[in-house]
Amino acid sequence: MSLPFAAEARAALGPALFDYMQGRAGDSHAAPGEDANAAAFARLRLIPRLFSEAGPPDLATELAGRRMAAPVMIGAFAGDRVFHAEGILPVARVAARLGLDLVLSEETVTPLAEVTAAHPGTWLQLRAAGSEDRIARIVSAAAGAGAAGIVLTLMAPSHPRPGQRPGGFDIGAELVSRGWSTIGTQLDGSHRPGVAPLEAFPRWDAARLGRIAALARSLGLPLMVKGVLNPADLAPLADCGVAGAVASNVGLRQSSRWALALDQLPALAAARPAGLPLLLDGGVRHGADVIAASLLGAAACVATRPVLCALAAGGEAAVEAWLNGLLDNLYAMTAWMGAAHPAALDPGQLLRD
Ligand SMILES: Cc1cc2nc3c(=O)[nH]c(=O)nc-3n(C[C@H](O)[C@H](O)[C@H](O)COP(=O)(O)O)c2cc1C
Repeated sequence: MSLPFAAEARAALGPALFDYMQGRAGDSHAAPGEDANAAAFARLRLIPRLFSEAGPPDLATELAGRRMAAPVMIGAFAGDRVFHAEGILPVARVAARLGLDLVLSEETVTPLAEVTAAHPGTWLQLRAAGSEDRIARIVSAAAGAGAAGIVLTLMAPSHPRPGQRPGGFDIGAELVSRGWSTIGTQLDGSHRPGVAPLEAFPRWDAARLGRIAALARSLGLPLMVKGVLNPADLAPLADCGVAGAVASNVGLRQSSRWALALDQLPALAAARPAGLPLLLDGGVRHGADVIAASLLGAAACVATRPVLCALAAGGEAAVEAWLNGLLDNLYAMTAWMGAAHPAALDPGQLLRD
């Protein structure tokens, strides 16, 4: 299953960077470009509804205190400027025009304040590793720079052993060679080129997470946790007061052996404490995927690689074309399924092959 604009992106980026973007883990048996997360959606079938009282779809969605034009967010990717001369900014402009929130990696070269100026609906994504003090300082700085929220990646946030890099490419070394710092090092005050080197241990526990979530809340920032695959993790997240749980295997970039978030959604939805929305990250390529995820319990979906591939291949115009295509497909499928919003669909309208 190939990404949109893949040939053009490969030509623009060269093979090494393109392979890093595809992100094949070292323990993968998959062919290059094969994506188990995207393939999982192909196993699901949707049952339309011919007779329905629902009016035309309105995809507007409330999530974690934010209003979005559709239940779709754009996901985090590191090293934006190696993919496009303007970095993430073309994506931020499109996302602002379309009313979709954007998750920005702390490993982004473009300063946070420039991105929030282009798009106030920008969440900062941080790795839950290293000292709690580092995260606390960055969360405070993010509030000052106008971020809309925080996404904390708890799953595999750092490498306890070296040599586990997706596609065998070291984005940190690449950024150092270009002399570029990233948001994490810009906001922690060090401004050192590359990405912040983070200790894997001690691991983050619920007490640390609770303190950071409380800090974010006190600054008016909702905090979501990314990398949830185990239903047993949901209750502690709710106890910590987080605003959302992002079901994700982080694109199977560190290991190909993680469970698929889509497969885990039913168990996660069954264990979900009231008031803790679930999001689905990974493999979302069409509006129909957003519908399927919604039927399995996701309040919204996050898409990353298609947007990144479009950015590398054709800049702002390609990003806008791809996102408009996804939203058009989502609108049409919602109407054909007989609902005004994906959240209003009947779970019986989903079948597995
Ligand atoms: C080049 C690249 C860099 C990424 N960097 C980050 C990152 O810094 N932080 C993070 O939480 N996820 C990162 N991801 C993972 C994505 O946010 C997302 O979880 C993953 O790609 C699965 O979604 P997709 O199938 O829509 O691409 C990165 C993905 C790519 C392709």
